[in-house]
Amino acid sequence: MCGIVGYVGGRPCRDLLIAGLEKLEYRGYDSAGLSLLEDGRIESVRAVGNLSNLRAAVADTEDRGAVAVAEAEATIGLAHTRWATHGRVTEENAHPHSDEEGEVHIVLNGIVENHSELRRELITEGHEFSSETDAEIVAHLIEKHYDGDLTGAVRDAFAELRGHYAFVAMHVEHPGTLVGARNECPLVLGIGEGETFLASAIPAFLKETRDVMRIDNGEIVTIDADGAIVTSADGEPRDRETEHVTWDEDEAERGGYSTFMLKEIHEQPDAVAETITDRLPELDAIDLSELELTPEEVRDLNRIIIVACGTSYHAGLVGRYAIETWARISVEMDVASEYRYRDPVVGPGDLVIGITQSGETADTLAAMRLARERGAHVLAITNVMGSQATQDADSVLFTRAGLEIGVAATKTFTSQVAAIYLLAGWLAQSRGTIEPDRMAELIAEMKALPRKIDETTDALDPQVKAIARSHYQGRFFFYLGRHIGLPICLEGALKMKEISYIPSDAYAAGEMKHGPIALLDETTPVVVVATESPVLEKVLSNMAEVRARGADVIAIATEGSVDVAETADQTLFVPRTDWILQPILAVIPLQLLAYHTARCLGLNVDQPRNLAKTVTVE
Ligand code: F6R
Repeated sequence: MCGIVGYVGGRPCRDLLIAGLEKLEYRGYDSAGLSLLEDGRIESVRAVGNLSNLRAAVADTEDRGAVAVAEAEATIGLAHTRWATHGRVTEENAHPHSDEEGEVHIVLNGIVENHSELRRELITEGHEFSSETDAEIVAHLIEKHYDGDLTGAVRDAFAELRGHYAFVAMHVEHPGTLVGARNECPLVLGIGEGETFLASAIPAFLKETRDVMRIDNGEIVTIDADGAIVTSADGEPRDRETEHVTWDEDEAERGGYSTFMLKEIHEQPDAVAETITDRLPELDAIDLSELELTPEEVRDLNRIIIVACGTSYHAGLVGRYAIETWARISVEMDVASEYRYRDPVVGPGDLVIGITQSGETADTLAAMRLARERGAHVLAITNVMGSQATQDADSVLFTRAGLEIGVAATKTFTSQVAAIYLLAGWLAQSRGTIEPDRMAELIAEMKALPRKIDETTDALDPQVKAIARSHYQGRFFFYLGRHIGLPICLEGALKMKEISYIPSDAYAAGEMKHGPIALLDETTPVVVVATESPVLEKVLSNMAEVRARGADVIAIATEGSVDVAETADQTLFVPRTDWILQPILAVIPLQLLAYHTARCLGLNVDQPRNLAKTVTVE
């Protein structure tokens, strides 16, 4: 979740660009940089760490002979905050990137999927690269296609790229022009008096102008001080109106959403796409070459043990079904705070997976260290580069959800689930426990998840809001599920407790008759996850039992499930996908239900009482 700011106009822009980056800090980053064009040359400054490091590097530039940066008189430039995806957190990998001659500079958000093949081609043609990033390829491609027309060169480069990204380019021969292109990742213009901004989000320029123009997917935009020309990828002109935004700065940081939690729920398609896209480079194979596991180690694995806390634990529970079904390895699960204290039997031949979005949760770290000391291979699934979990593990699989500000985990959960699906598929392919055709089917379904998550969120938000309005005064919410639906019930109940403070419990539906059924009466909303699965018929019987007690059944079902709709009081349909992947869609209405219930109660969902984002204290 990187940040882009570009400026062209009449004012010196160095400090405007850094101020814009500051407004994008909430997205998370690990390095930053800027490029300024003046007097026929472009100068760049980049730094690892936060913006104070970039400021310090800028202050040092005079000594390094970077006059344009030091004197701060340039009126055109690009700036970027990077959240590393390809390549380590180093100054060389920070943006902007350029071609060898430094004539084209670019900043890019997102991922170029076909970067390896493009890099190989460009190297054969004589290009030399100075970073490990996918982004640098774009600067070289533009240089390759450039014949005096920057927009044309961007268009030709854009046509060769696959993935989801947005980028902005600047060329030394065009001191009054920036060209941007968008495919899935956001890009937006700020139109001022004799100046134009191009950024990944409105807060970057909101202090300077409130007149905004959005760029759509597949569009190229050329800006100068007087405005913008938008075209389709093949050069067809596009009419675009400016809109005047009235948001205050806080609202702008939340992207116009009333809370960070809602914004982050809506960011899930992007977070999942960032996590999976470039790891699915082929139609029938998953690439997790970043893991330090040899084919022999994978083949000879005894078992897998997953340790985690809270929501991350629930992601592990979902993962267990995928790993056992596809890779046929036995998976044990434990909450890290229990595992670390029970002198577990673990050692060589075991793969211990620690799931922690922050990478700093004390119990999960302790459980991982213990397993490593005893000889297991420890794999961390985490969202934060450089976090403690990355130091304490033998292998790391990063989720790429970007910074999550709301205390309740939402987009980090769906990204973790997506990462475990990848891991499960990769283990299966490495152990030969899955047919290539089946693998191809699953990969196609995985690739469709971001779109389906988006559809689910848009379609269900108003319906869930209405359900929350009828139930927010309830004293107790009960969640029932079986099999792959159970972890999602646990997650739904956790979210409900955490942000609405309404007591809630999640149960394996088959256990209901052994006691908890006594809790049910006509005042209890019962949320049942009844998506497609090998046990759907049994879930239907459980729903009938609940209704016989007069309780109100709210079912989450796969679209087209007539039986579920006939048995439940209310049904929220999610799109159809492979049944193992269904939980990543089923969790969305449960996140929304907790959210809207808490909002009906007037609660602060971003910072629930007694809770902090990372629990490191013993
Ligand atoms: C719930 C939530 C927590 C975290 C848990 C683990 O919404 O956010 O339950 O999932 O504290 O945190 P990480 O994943 O950072 O180890």
